[in-house]
Amino acid sequence: MDQQSYEKKIVGEKAAEYIEDGMTVGLGTGSTVAFTTKKLAERIKTEGLSIQAVSTSHATSELAKSLGIPLKDLNDVKKIDLTIDGCDEFDPDLNGIKGGGGALLFEKIVAVSSDKNIWVADASKSVRRLGAFPLPVEVLPFGWKHMFGAMEDKGLQPKLRMSGKDPFLTDSRNFILDCHVKEIEDAKSLAKWLNALPGVVENGLFINIADQVLLANNDKVDVITR
Ligand code: 5RP
Repeated sequence: MDQQSYEKKIVGEKAAEYIEDGMTVGLGTGSTVAFTTKKLAERIKTEGLSIQAVSTSHATSELAKSLGIPLKDLNDVKKIDLTIDGCDEFDPDLNGIKGGGGALLFEKIVAVSSDKNIWVADASKSVRRLGAFPLPVEVLPFGWKHMFGAMEDKGLQPKLRMSGKDPFLTDSRNFILDCHVKEIEDAKSLAKWLNALPGVVENGLFINIADQVLLANNDKVDVITR
């Protein structure tokens, strides 16, 4: 296992320790939180932990189902006690970019429905300022080239995400425009500007959402709290 995969494993597994009996848990998407999901399944079996989970993507639902984790539809739970998710970047204020896996829309809906949000991050995810990781923006396929043009005019350097020869499709069958901003000066106003564009479904800036980040530091896990 390479160093980055090892870091994903230790933070992912550590996060599963934060899940308590009786909780409704939001399960994020990606390779790091997959370790949390697997560890959670282990705890359910060995400790008899009783939880219900809400998933943030088709991929996570499939993994959770294959491991026997009880899943609920978000509409069928009053609230989520704790959501554990990965991130693509986070800054010292624990604001972040998400959506590298294309699940940002459901991830954001689940996150804002949660009492607490923990992100699990390998060392590469910690940055001074957001933007080196291309910012994913989910857009409707209808008229996407016009949203693309508006983003281009604003200097965001969008690129249509592809899957082979076809545009990548999110779980809601939308497109993703990855914006190569490099350095985001004012994340809050950029998020507002993007979401005000008709046809933009959601952007990958997660501001004031994470309460804690579990960050891999060699073979240790640092806990950073907002
Ligand atoms: C998916 C996400 C993921 O949490 C993010 O891309 C991190 O993924 P990984 O844990 O595989 O590095 O936002 O939409």
